[in-house]
Amino acid sequence: MKLSTTRSLNNMSTLRELYIEELQDLYDAENQILEALPKMADKASHPDLQRAFKEHLEQTRGHVQRLEKIFEGLEEKPSGKKCHGMQGLIEEGEELMKKNLDDDVLDAGLIAAAQKVEHYEMAGYGTVRTFARQLGEEDAANLLQETLNEEGRTDEKLTRLAENNINKEAAR
Ligand SMILES: [Fe+2]
Repeated sequence: MKLSTTRSLNNMSTLRELYIEELQDLYDAENQILEALPKMADKASHPDLQRAFKEHLEQTRGHVQRLEKIFEGLEEKPSGKKCHGMQGLIEEGEELMKKNLDDDVLDAGLIAAAQKVEHYEMAGYGTVRTFARQLGEEDAANLLQETLNEEGRTDEKLTRLAENNINKEAAR
C-alpha cells in the first residue's frame, strides 16, 4: 500500500514538471505569435482577414496573461523554453509572405499558416488543460479551457473566411 502511494506521488511530481514545461512552451509560442500577428495583419488584403488577425492579437494578449496567472499560482517562472514548433510554423509563414503572390492567393496562404498555428496551440492547450485536471489544478484547468475555446473559435472563423469568400477570389 505504502509503495503504491509513493509511486503515485512520484508520478505526480513528474507530471507536474511536464505540465510546467508544456506551459512554458505555450508561453513562448504565444509571445512569438504576438510578434507575428501584426505582420500577418499588415500583409493580409481582405478586410475581414485583417480584422480576424487583429482580433486574435487582442485575444493572444489575454492568453499570455492567463498563463502568467497560472505560473504565479504555481510559483514558477513563465520563461526558459524556446518553442521550436511555433518557430518553424512562423518561419514558414514568413517564407510565404516573401513570395510574390497575388493578394487573394497570399490571403489564402496566410489563412493556411494561421490555422496551422491554431492547431498547434489547440493541441498544446488541450494537453495542459488535461494535465491541470489530473494534478487537481481546477482553476488553471478552467483558464486553459477558456483559451482553448478561443483558439478553436479563431480556427473556425478562419475556416469560414476561407470557405466564404477569400479562397474563391484566389481561385478566380
Ligand atoms: Fe493563443
